[in-house]
Amino acid sequence: MANIVIIGAQWGDEGKGKIVDMLSAESQVIERFQGGANAGHTIKAGGRETVLHLLPSGILWPDALCLIGNGVVLDPEVFLEEIDALQAEGIDASPRRLAVSAKAHLILPYHKALDKAREAKRAGSKIGTTGRGIGPCYEDKAARIGLRAGDLARPDLVRAKIRHALLEKNILLTGLYKFDAIDADRTADALLALAPRLLPYITDTDALVHKAIQENKAILFEGAQGVHLDIDHGTYPFVTSSNTVSAGACCGTGVAPSAISEVIGVAKAYTTRVGSGPFPTELNDDTGSYLQAQGHEFGATTGRPRRCGWLDAVILRESVRLNGIDRLALTKLDVLQNLPQLKICVAYELDGKRMDYPPQGEGELAAVKPVYETFPGFEDDISGCRKYGDLPEEARAYIERIEELTGVPAGYISVGPGRDQTIIRQVA
Ligand code: GDP
Ligand code: IMO
Ligand code: MG
Repeated sequence: MANIVIIGAQWGDEGKGKIVDMLSAESQVIERFQGGANAGHTIKAGGRETVLHLLPSGILWPDALCLIGNGVVLDPEVFLEEIDALQAEGIDASPRRLAVSAKAHLILPYHKALDKAREAKRAGSKIGTTGRGIGPCYEDKAARIGLRAGDLARPDLVRAKIRHALLEKNILLTGLYKFDAIDADRTADALLALAPRLLPYITDTDALVHKAIQENKAILFEGAQGVHLDIDHGTYPFVTSSNTVSAGACCGTGVAPSAISEVIGVAKAYTTRVGSGPFPTELNDDTGSYLQAQGHEFGATTGRPRRCGWLDAVILRESVRLNGIDRLALTKLDVLQNLPQLKICVAYELDGKRMDYPPQGEGELAAVKPVYETFPGFEDDISGCRKYGDLPEEARAYIERIEELTGVPAGYISVGPGRDQTIIRQVA
């Protein structure tokens, strides 16, 4: 069966939640592999909107096994809140069908405090993080002082690790950032109080996913954020702290590259970005405001307005190269309706030179000039289209040019937030 990695091909919020939920209908296992509660994945189904920060977007399908892999940084409070909210709606989020890797690192209050303290101190050059403690938690993982989910079974280890971590962090928090010190024992008590609820979920997810592979089940690996927020390949330093590229699915779950059969890149039919960082096709004009209003472009996690701009095929071409994208899922095409003309950035110019791929040096992307092609817009309401042939000719021409520019087919075209508002195309 297909083992599919689904990643965001731009700067996040491409509609991964919708696509993962839709494909979960035919999958038995859905596993998140990186990021944490910085993600906000929206699903609209059955007249209800659900925003998930940590739980895999397959959770609404009662027979799907949902896993949180070792690559995720897990905020225990958000995890339990999300479970409670789902259970209140009658959705089973019990350990029967939801499991967390014992190797996943835990986000603690001091990670969130440091995240906020650093952003506050970075006057003028803020990254615009979500404040969810993501960077500081991955730092501790790399520094080999992190607390892992499996440690919760050993209260003495939890206490010792928290005490050790806070020795250094309290010096930073109080001395440098002028924040209050965090009490180690109280932090450990609060976490250990949650342990009885958390422990039944914590297990060897590697074994579960490998068993599923052996049994030939269909597995979805759900990415968070987007390619250009990747810690190595993104617009550094305006990135998140994990590998968001498709290869992250292997490191973040313990599955080998040979087990992956397909990569789907989710891309909006235009571009958005939340937080700071270069964005060559950004529109600070009426068209940008129109896209923001029509697309309801406000962050699902922080509520911040998303910056909007034209589709950037250079960024997408780089995503295809970095991720081995086999198919694009092109979302929010309906948002473009009623614009008199559409533009696609087909290349950049930097110092008089034309570029087909983004420049690699820090800060250079901010200096490029987009080269645009212009297309006629379409007026028809396309939100009810279910077949490719139902789309207006102008919309099809726009999609086909994106396919040409990126070299990959658009296998899914999303024309509304609903599960069924999707055109599925047979592609080779
Ligand atoms: P994710 O982080 O990639 O899962 O994306 P988000 O959930 O943060 O943001 C995508 C937003 O667009 C959500 O509000 C979705 O309900 C919505 N959405 C997804 N696909 C479509 C679409 O084709 N058309 C419209 N109008 N909205 C969509
Ligand atoms: P989903 O999965 C869009 C952005 C933040 C900030 C940068 C670093 O919903 O697509 P962090 O808190 O990760 O240290 O912030 O990354 N960011 C996202 N932008 N969608 C997301 O997730 C994001 N997660 C983080 O805005 O610019
Ligand atoms: Mg989102």
